[in-house]
Amino acid sequence: MKVWLEEKIGNPDLFTGRKKELGYFLRWTEQTKRKISQSTAILSRRKTGKTVLLQRLFNITFEKNDCVVPFYFEIRESDQWIGDFAREFFLTFVYQYIAFRTRKAEYFLYSKENYSQADKIARKEKIDYLVRFISDAESADKNGNADSLWNMVRDAPRMVAQHTDERILQIIDEFQFLNRFIFWDREKKRRAHNLAGSYLHTCEYKNAPLLVSGSWVGWLARDLLRMLPGRFQFHYLENIPEDEAAEMILKYSHLENVPVSEETVPLIAGITEGNPFYIGSLFRSRFPGRNLATEKGVLETLEFETLDREGGIRGTWMEYAGYAMGESNDVHAKRIVLYLSKHREREVTRHELRERLGLEMSDSDLEKKLKILVRADIIEQGSSNSDYQGVPDNIFDKVFRGIYQKEIEAFDPKDVTDEYRRLVRSLEKSSRRLLGEYSHYKGKFAEYLIIDNLRYRAHGNQRLFKNMMRSLPAGFRFAEYRTVWSYSASPVHQRDIQIDIFARAEKNEHSLIGEVKNRKAKFSVKEAEAFREKAGELMKLENVDKAVLFVFSVSGFFKNTLVYLKKHGIAWTSDKRWLDKP
Ligand SMILES: Nc1ncnc2c1ncn2[C@@H]1O[C@H](COP(=O)(O)OP(=O)(O)OP(=O)(O)O)[C@@H](O)[C@H]1O
Ligand SMILES: [Mg+2]
Repeated sequence: MKVWLEEKIGNPDLFTGRKKELGYFLRWTEQTKRKISQSTAILSRRKTGKTVLLQRLFNITFEKNDCVVPFYFEIRESDQWIGDFAREFFLTFVYQYIAFRTRKAEYFLYSKENYSQADKIARKEKIDYLVRFISDAESADKNGNADSLWNMVRDAPRMVAQHTDERILQIIDEFQFLNRFIFWDREKKRRAHNLAGSYLHTCEYKNAPLLVSGSWVGWLARDLLRMLPGRFQFHYLENIPEDEAAEMILKYSHLENVPVSEETVPLIAGITEGNPFYIGSLFRSRFPGRNLATEKGVLETLEFETLDREGGIRGTWMEYAGYAMGESNDVHAKRIVLYLSKHREREVTRHELRERLGLEMSDSDLEKKLKILVRADIIEQGSSNSDYQGVPDNIFDKVFRGIYQKEIEAFDPKDVTDEYRRLVRSLEKSSRRLLGEYSHYKGKFAEYLIIDNLRYRAHGNQRLFKNMMRSLPAGFRFAEYRTVWSYSASPVHQRDIQIDIFARAEKNEHSLIGEVKNRKAKFSVKEAEAFREKAGELMKLENVDKAVLFVFSVSGFFKNTLVYLKKHGIAWTSDKRWLDKP
């Protein structure tokens, strides 16, 4: 898939999973054509992957090029005069729109300052109806009438959609900053603290629905409920499911070049509870002894990330907790969070908090304090207004205690070590079940090992590796592959193609497309047919014209399967050396 707009994730290949959510939002996007999709806010715990999901949705929709034009805008976290903000918002839209119509990504990069350049380009690209929008915005801007400029540009996406009978998907990230960082005056004294409310009508139009999110979801949800009641559907994003977590771990391992082992994959998936940010943080940890291939190494890395000053996870949580705690040294707030965190498996009433912690303050003062903590997402509101709950997250709990528990009660970092150990023991029990001899994990891990061999060893050991494969075409050589992946077609395509191994070679060399079976049963003709068909589709989708197909089946092949494979020039192997690590 082509990445049009640069994504924050960095290497786009890192993006893993989110199948359910991408499926949902692609259908939602599709339904904008029938004008039935309602503006939606994506809410979730911090760092669960909202931004990378929104950006991927942008790129898929852009790539699809099918009458829904995506527009992505992130509201910056710095004080801005509304005139500057509106201009940037508008010109970002204009250039993304032109890029979409012309399929020229270079327009994303044009300066968002200058109307006359936008005007010139709209004319040059013969998108004449934009010219009027641009000149209207320019004159409102020149007149210094920021209020009417904002009204105009806010509605510009839906107006353009109406004009052309297209649809515009407006993705606005960090939406809550609208009420915090925009000012009515150039001196930035009068904050536009109700600005989100100006979307009251704009967001109701079904030809340009909004999809918003932000890193302060407590705050975002409150603003939406207060200023835009009933206008937004809330969509809650969870951590990723276990199979996607395993896939993500294997991918990060390849791309960050940090080995893992068959035992540590389920361990990392379990201990991070499928939180993509935690997974990424382990692989990028600055811990000098980082080793994710042993249990001990994983635990030490996690402890570093949790408790050390340089730990990335700790640093991120510190920033948010620090904000919630304010400048003041609010011991009560810290004790409340510690108490809720300790009892995070259940809801706790305000009454209980006051009794147990001996808090001497009025109920309304306590409620105010708790509200701030909820808004900062470091505790959660329970099922009623007087119930609260700690965030259900093992790692947050320990980070928070590492930072604040010392001030309040005795804190021994060894407690954290012991708790992680206990957690690992209980995970081991459940992962033994998952690791059953021919489980899903085994299959995934076999792919991982073969991929590793293709990346790093096959090219330099042609004889050995060719010996491990039967029925290769004459003159075949393992290439220095450009990329070697498990491949799943982007959800743009009607069919869900899942290819276990795709090693892409340079133009005139053979790429490799492989199917991996690490299970008890032999490989059947039916499976061979299905594999051949999807490999064919992959070659079309990815413009591969020279490729060798192969099947690795640890339990071998039926006789008639081998006849079929030979007939179609598909190589095969059940040589276990493919699963050797150096
Ligand atoms: N689907 C994914 N595949 C791979 N990595 C992911 C995925 N989702 C999230 N990550 C990792 O988690 C990190 C955080 O993701 P992201 O910034 O999208 O979260 P967010 O929910 O927008 O965070 P915030 O609450 O700060 O806005 C990313 O930098 C990336 O490393
Ligand atoms: Mg984000």
